[in-house]
Amino acid sequence: MANNYMANCQAHWKGITPDEVADYYSNWADTQQYDQDLEPGVYNGPVIIADEMANSFLDCRDNIRIIDIACGTGRVGEELAHYGFKQIDGLDPSAGMLKQCQQKGIYKKLYQEFCSDNTLPVEDGVYDCAVVSGGMGEGHIPCSGLQEMCRIVKPGGMVLIVMRKEYLQYVGEYTERLEPIIEKMEHENKWELLERREVSNYSFNRDGVLFKMKVKKNTVDHISALESLPKKIPA
Ligand SMILES: C[S@@+](CC[C@H](N)C(=O)[O-])C[C@H]1O[C@@H](n2cnc3c(N)ncnc32)[C@H](O)[C@@H]1O
Repeated sequence: MANNYMANCQAHWKGITPDEVADYYSNWADTQQYDQDLEPGVYNGPVIIADEMANSFLDCRDNIRIIDIACGTGRVGEELAHYGFKQIDGLDPSAGMLKQCQQKGIYKKLYQEFCSDNTLPVEDGVYDCAVVSGGMGEGHIPCSGLQEMCRIVKPGGMVLIVMRKEYLQYVGEYTERLEPIIEKMEHENKWELLERREVSNYSFNRDGVLFKMKVKKNTVDHISALESLPKKIPA
């Protein structure tokens, strides 16, 4: 099996903890291999999300405030910059990935944080848009992170997530939870699901799924959407 495929699998083994995920990515970035292993064509999440942003914001792109959650080495920022987006902040727990990201000189502000059930050091409704490419997976952003994404985006703004489609089935944290929570937040009038679209060749020739939500209200009750859903299925 190809080395880059194996390198990616090792970031996603069943039972990997959030700290192990962050450390794994730091080591991967330190070898300077992440961007090479997941080059465009192999991993297309950043291009998919940037294309979606460009289609969603036709004008005044340089004023759109974006937070790239799970920004990693900044691949999404690079793609967004090609389209003229300039106000881009990033958030990621991995020091090694953030170091590479900083060197690209695209992001205004970088936060070393996990997006999870913790309150991020960001005010309510700061951003026009939150984007996530590749941040969902085993041990990665849990379902509770959706609440924070919603909270930090202003009403009328958007949350865009692209992820590998099969993770909806076999990542226990997401199975029968991630999509129900997106729907429940819609019923609670926190956001509207504008689109759920399957995308081909998201990474390693596997299909992806893109979720696009329009934020309605960011005064989020942190637990309500999670409470009535099944708990995470044990590994
Ligand atoms: C496959 S990389 C994607 C990086 C970048 N978005 C890209 O498309 O190249 C996954 C990233 O998710 C980050 N990550 C993992 N768990 C996270 C969490 N709970 N909150 C935010 N980022 C997380 C990792 O540190 C890693 O940088």
